[in-house]
Amino acid sequence: MTTPAELALTCTELSPPELAHLQRLLGAWSVLADLSFSDLVLVVPTTPVPGEEPELVVIGQIRPSNRPTILEQDLVGQTVRQAAWALSTAALQRGAVVRGAVHHPLIGESVPVENIPVGFGGKVIAVLVRVYARPAEVPLSAYGKRYLDVFERLVKMIVASEFPFRDEDVGTEETPRVGDGFVLVDAAGRVEFASPNAINAFHRMGVYSTPEGRSFTELGIEESAVQWALAARRPVVEEVERRPDVIVLVQCIPLLDDGTSTGAVILLRDVTDVRRLDRLLLSKDAAIREVHHRVKNNLQTISSLLSLQARRLSSEDGRDALYEAERRVRSIAVVHEILSRDPGDQVPFGEIVQSLVRMAEDSVMSPRPVTISVEGDLGEVTADVATPLAVVLAEVLQNAVEHAFGQDAPEPGHVWVQLVNDREGVSVDVRDDGCGLEEGFDIERTTSLGLSIVRDLVVSQLGGSIEMGPAASGGTEVLIRLPAKSD
Ligand SMILES: Nc1ncnc2c1ncn2[C@@H]1O[C@H](COP(=O)(O)OP(=O)(O)OP(=O)(O)O)[C@@H](O)[C@H]1O
Ligand SMILES: [Mg+2]
Repeated sequence: MTTPAELALTCTELSPPELAHLQRLLGAWSVLADLSFSDLVLVVPTTPVPGEEPELVVIGQIRPSNRPTILEQDLVGQTVRQAAWALSTAALQRGAVVRGAVHHPLIGESVPVENIPVGFGGKVIAVLVRVYARPAEVPLSAYGKRYLDVFERLVKMIVASEFPFRDEDVGTEETPRVGDGFVLVDAAGRVEFASPNAINAFHRMGVYSTPEGRSFTELGIEESAVQWALAARRPVVEEVERRPDVIVLVQCIPLLDDGTSTGAVILLRDVTDVRRLDRLLLSKDAAIREVHHRVKNNLQTISSLLSLQARRLSSEDGRDALYEAERRVRSIAVVHEILSRDPGDQVPFGEIVQSLVRMAEDSVMSPRPVTISVEGDLGEVTADVATPLAVVLAEVLQNAVEHAFGQDAPEPGHVWVQLVNDREGVSVDVRDDGCGLEEGFDIERTTSLGLSIVRDLVVSQLGGSIEMGPAASGGTEVLIRLPAKSD
């Protein structure tokens, strides 16, 4: 999908590094909107068209999270004549901040604007337009003044192409915002100011002393992130774990003046609850895995019990029945074995097929070798389809090795399994070159247990169809089809 911003960029002359710089700015600029209590709009000049008036295109817009917006409309993707946005155009051409006022059509009066040229590689590549409420409306509390002060320092960095930082990762949803907790430190890492929410975060971290004038270490908080950000002149994001249970996300943004760190902005966000949820989710996954593992173990126990009991029986029919039951249980265990490694509702069916083929090959009783080859794959199959389908395939394979190859034929027998999963749905084709079915055989009418199970699972449980008849290659062919899921 193309966003309006991406579309807008196609009509500009930005080089890939310039574009990356602006993308980093868009990833990091929430701090600018919050510190300035302003709506921000990012504009770039469009590719000049001879004979046409030069234009600017809006590639980004952000609202402050600590004050109502005054730009209710979405401007991203819009173009405006450079002559109409004269202040922005002046900032673009002069490479200096241009302040003034523009008429706001919705408010019906003029609003102050500040046009900040975005420097990069010795050029001005864009203009950051700050649209703010009249000074009287700006909250001028103690921290309000601090915020604006820091904003001005960041503005200088933007003009000098020091902000956004060169190799900063584009901000994630996760990074804290100013409103979460804001701390300003000096070049030595000593706290100059901490916002009320930052004080709350400190309290949750068990720090109750007044932070002003102290370094993080003196407060008893791990300081390496702050020191590293100041020394490397690069932003750092770190999670600080305090007292069991409290996790605070710390983002340090160094403030630079002509390449030297003069201090840093530190944003704090208590992510304890978010992390606790993450951990719960993780352990839920582990729990599901454990359950499948236990189900598999229990099924294996049942199958061993059945075979133990079978060995004690003197009646051959009884013994066979128990062995069959044992095998069926094992084919279900195969699915749980795979789910215990990789829980989720999708199971790689290829692995199940491999196990089932091995099981069928192991049960070949006759001296005549049987080779089973598999072609194609079903890919990932939902667990509620995988279990019945595994039982079905096990039955059909078992029938082939059990009934298709009489003892007298000297050459080896072949079984071919062909798997297809496409838009039409799933198809499983099992073919052998054995003796073929008895005269008058009809799958719809058999009452024997194996095929009754197969029919019931395919038709009732999986909503599919089954055909069984002579194969073109001689022998028998079983074709199972499941419709594609309609969701
Ligand atoms: N591939 C095959 N080649 C030849 N005959 C087959 C093949 N598959 C099935 N049959 C015939 O179909 C019959 C019914 O199969 P079905 O699986 O229902 O029962 P079974 O294998 O005899 O017993 P069980 O209940 O243990 O599976 C078999 O007895 C066999 O005669
Ligand atoms: Mg059978």
